[in-house]
Amino acid sequence: MRFFDRIFYHYYSLLCQRELASRLVRAPKSLVLEGRVFFSGIGKFTIGEECVLRNGISFEGSKTGRLSIGNRVCIGNNVSISCCQEVTIGDGIAIASNSYIIDSDHAFSGGPGAPFDRLICSPVRIGKNVWIASGVSILCGSVIGDGAIIGAGAVVKGMIPANAIAVGVPAKVIKMRQ
Ligand SMILES: CC(C)(COP(=O)(O)OP(=O)(O)OC[C@H]1O[C@@H](n2cnc3c(N)ncnc32)[C@H](O)[C@@H]1OP(=O)(O)O)[C@@H](O)C(=O)NCCC(=O)NCCS
Repeated sequence: MRFFDRIFYHYYSLLCQRELASRLVRAPKSLVLEGRVFFSGIGKFTIGEECVLRNGISFEGSKTGRLSIGNRVCIGNNVSISCCQEVTIGDGIAIASNSYIIDSDHAFSGGPGAPFDRLICSPVRIGKNVWIASGVSILCGSVIGDGAIIGAGAVVKGMIPANAIAVGVPAKVIKMRQ
């Protein structure tokens, strides 16, 4: 990296770090920020030790949202997490690029023609040591057990058991880790 790029990158990272710190209940010094992180609205946001946040990540939600990220979590480029009620991400998780986690749906029980102005929220809980591969969507109410692997491009809605390898749309278990 060239000298001026390094200086720019250094101050840019500090700026991001400050922004992040202002939004966090607790901002650990061990947090590594590798680019721009966007924030909007989440009420309570905690993050553990030794986490890495890559570039273009977006955390958004509402004041009622509680987003909790454990220790040693690596979140890849352009990952979006939308949190209106509760999103819990356990320790030792890798979330690859372009994945999307959301704990709400628009209510549509009003029938065709009714506005989508109300959200229905249901917590998303991801256990420890889970690998979420690239381009995965995890929808509201989903629970992923410890040690699971979610294959690239999967859409998770519901429960994935511990140590399962699940792929596809909707995500189905293809095997268990030995
Ligand atoms: C999920 C994954 C880890 C499974 O690897 P694996 O255990 O070696 O799986 P296999 O290659 O034996 O595939 C088993 C079956 O699942 C299918 N499959 C594997 N990954 C799939 C995926 N992501 N989506 C849909 N089907 C998939 C295979 O086609 C194969 O189907 P078949 O039995 O009908 O032939 C891997 O396929 C994957 O998705 N890797 C993600 C890579 C990535 O995103 N990396 C980001 C960097 S962190």
